[in-house]
Amino acid sequence: MDHPQCHSLPQDLSDSLKEATMEVHTQAENAEFMRNFQKGQVTRKGFKLVMASLYHVYVALEEEIERNKDDPVFAPLYFPEELHRRAALEQDMAFWYGPRWQEAVPYTAATHRYVDRLQQVGRREPELLVAHAYTRYLGDLSGGQILKKIVQKALDLPSSGEGLAFFTFPNIASANKFKQLYRSRMNTLEMTPEVRQKVIEEAKTAFLLNIQLFEELQELLTQDPEDQRPSQTAGLHPHASSQVQGEDLLGSH
Ligand code: HEM
Repeated sequence: MDHPQCHSLPQDLSDSLKEATMEVHTQAENAEFMRNFQKGQVTRKGFKLVMASLYHVYVALEEEIERNKDDPVFAPLYFPEELHRRAALEQDMAFWYGPRWQEAVPYTAATHRYVDRLQQVGRREPELLVAHAYTRYLGDLSGGQILKKIVQKALDLPSSGEGLAFFTFPNIASANKFKQLYRSRMNTLEMTPEVRQKVIEEAKTAFLLNIQLFEELQELLTQDPEDQRPSQTAGLHPHASSQVQGEDLLGSH
């Protein structure tokens, strides 16, 4: 990577975020769940689990965004029509979990921790919300598009896109152009150097929360005999499959 900016000038926030999260981004891509996913090794059970987690995460993220939409620390990044995923995820939940999905979607402990952090930020430190919105939405507009094609093929899903509404942004014509606009808006946010540093740290935390989620889901799948591929029999547990259902996955708090 080249660094066109002179060291004495403050870098754009968008560049700082990209640079600071490069290492955790690689870590996220290399999480076992994501590595398997990229190889097309994704099962219905695994996909349903990760989508359920994302449902809870986006409900919380977008609730906090709505709470702070008029606050200048977030307002320039408020793009509900273009970005918000809650309605799409509700459609996907109905596809994957059926009409009574509200009672059926699992809520895992790592998902709970991610949601807790989003709520804490939205309510107590809204100036850090940009870090969470950046991590999820710019990710969805980048790698997310690759993952959509993979899952469509791996799970033999209808070309209508049913069950994958999350990955489709009907109000964004060009993901690249929108990412540019989003970056330029991030760069208009006024913040002190201290807050800026906290935003950068929070983006790394956001990536780690995602990585922990993947690690937990992988663990749940590894324990589940129905999810074993022939080459992957370590950790078989005859009674563990019941854990991958609804309330059993609730955190302890
Ligand atoms: C298999 C997993 C993943 C793949 C293949 C992937 C791939 C990509 C690609 C190709 C880009 C575009 C890079 C560019 O435009 O220069 C990107 C950007 C990005 N990804 Fe991922 N990604 C993955 C996982 C994740 C995860 C888990 C997150 C966070 C939850 C994430 C967050 C981001 C963000 C925030 C960006 C925008 C970086 C920026 O331009 O500032 N990615 N990803």
